[in-house]
Amino acid sequence: MGVSTRTPLIAGNWKMNLDHLQAVAFVQKLHWALKDAKHEFEAVDVTVFPPYTDLRSVQTLIDADKIPFGLGAQDLSTHDSGAYTGEISGAFLKRLDVGSVIIGHSERRDYHQETDEVVAAKVQAALRHELVPVICVGETAEDLEKHGASAVPVGQLEIALEGVPAKADIVVAYEPVWAIGSGQAATPEQAQEVCAKLREVVKAKLGEDAAARTRILYGGSVKAANIASFMRQPDVDGALVGGASLIVDEFAAIVRFQKHVGV
Ligand code: 13P
Repeated sequence: MGVSTRTPLIAGNWKMNLDHLQAVAFVQKLHWALKDAKHEFEAVDVTVFPPYTDLRSVQTLIDADKIPFGLGAQDLSTHDSGAYTGEISGAFLKRLDVGSVIIGHSERRDYHQETDEVVAAKVQAALRHELVPVICVGETAEDLEKHGASAVPVGQLEIALEGVPAKADIVVAYEPVWAIGSGQAATPEQAQEVCAKLREVVKAKLGEDAAARTRILYGGSVKAANIASFMRQPDVDGALVGGASLIVDEFAAIVRFQKHVGV
């Protein structure tokens, strides 16, 4: 385990999976699985990021059953209101008790042409509504070959943090594009090296306190069998999990990484 005092964060990005009825059943099952395993909920923060149409149902369930999971959204508009068909305002998310929002996921950058400037504007939109931006950065296989692992994510984060106040509560997720959904995770050493460089960027932009408290996650083919190796790294504070976050027992085992961190 790392030496950090930051509470680990295990985040499940469901992407475009699970409708609102499936979402409610899933969250209930995950909660039961963790309770059955006598999981210490205070030891690890868990946040789920369902599709927009599930948010109200999941929020109602979490509230009614006092389920200690955070609720996040997968994106938000750069605008707060107005003639932007199909867009979702951070104000609406806040009203639903959403606490955090993924910004700049590589699937948004790639399929929706989100530039670093759009990502930076979305970070500002999240902060305007007191949502924690989960800022995703990462290199493609081509970037990796040409520039090494850290140059592109470092550059992306520098732009995303433009104008962010030192006291802002943010999360950074290092997700190498080639590792997402491929079954080929980065090595823990590479994750550590890039996460350490990203922490340097947070330090340079937001100061030492922010660097010490900001959680930096690794994402890309995380599963129960490899989570411990990432969590042993001092600058890796958690994981952003895609595919494995849709399988109750697998995701519960990832959340419970402290039980197998020595494996
Ligand atoms: P996988 O865990 O399916 O590789 O997805 C990672 C991801 O994109 C999380 O945002």
